[in-house]
Amino acid sequence: MPTEALDNLLHNKEGDYLDCTFGTGGHSRRILENIGISGSLKAIDKDPKVQKFANQILDKRFEFKNISFSDLENSFPSESFDGMLIDLGISSFQLDDHSRGFSFKSESILDMRMNQTQGLTAFEWLNSANEKEIADAFYYLGEERKSRALAKQIVEKRKKRKISLTSDLTNLKFPYSRSKKHPATNIFRAIRMFINNEIEELISVLKSSLSLLKKGGKLVVISFHSIEDRIVKNFLRGRLENVSLESYMKSEGKLIKPTEEEVFNNPRSRSAILRVGKKL
Ligand SMILES: C[S@@+](CC[C@H](N)C(=O)[O-])C[C@H]1O[C@@H](n2cnc3c(N)ncnc32)[C@H](O)[C@@H]1O
Repeated sequence: MPTEALDNLLHNKEGDYLDCTFGTGGHSRRILENIGISGSLKAIDKDPKVQKFANQILDKRFEFKNISFSDLENSFPSESFDGMLIDLGISSFQLDDHSRGFSFKSESILDMRMNQTQGLTAFEWLNSANEKEIADAFYYLGEERKSRALAKQIVEKRKKRKISLTSDLTNLKFPYSRSKKHPATNIFRAIRMFINNEIEELISVLKSSLSLLKKGGKLVVISFHSIEDRIVKNFLRGRLENVSLESYMKSEGKLIKPTEEEVFNNPRSRSAILRVGKKL
């Protein structure tokens, strides 16, 4: 997937680029390797813990800011970039950090904030939200068919003891058995998306791309599930609410899926969907 993402993004080797999801900097490093000496790369990430990876990149063409998608328009002048890259979701660095509660594979406190210095933690929300709010998040953000039954169990459970650990969720009684994925996959995703305002943030970065990209600039988005992809697809087709059609972006080509080899080398890429737009 990185190869297609970069081939689409870097249409002008001496251009100015923005990596909206720095993570541990894998994509940023590849961009720097592939642009010329007068090109530049800005990168952002809302997680302050990734600053240490950004500090390792000693390249005059590179600059990192610890901000969110929704801060972009206040942080960069309009028409700053020839290309913007968005690689949605969480990084393996966040998933593997056992103090954060993103993974159902290890026991940890249910924090789930991408920026641990602000906002409500997952455990605060799960102990205070009403049953309907939890069920709706599970249904709409996690596409969880048994959303109501699972939300009910959480509310019953917390009457006896606060929900605070990943095992409080993995030990729920899931009223079905799935062969491939862990039964808690959907609700973990739903809680993470809710806690980090992921839908609002995605809409915000897509809209910002309209002002931040130069004419002819490319938007490259990698998403990992149908909820995100639907928003990106609708945006590129000019069907996202409150976005004017004239200032629009054209969708370029069809969506691109990873090759078998890429999935073998990087199992996370299995559900990746790449879409490309061009600012008109
Ligand atoms: C899938 S990872 C990116 C991995 C990266 N491409 C790499 O090569 O390491 C997504 C990153 O985006 C960040 N992120 C997610 N939502 C964000 C937002 N609304 N604003 C800024 N950064 C965000 C996360 O903190 C995470 O580090």
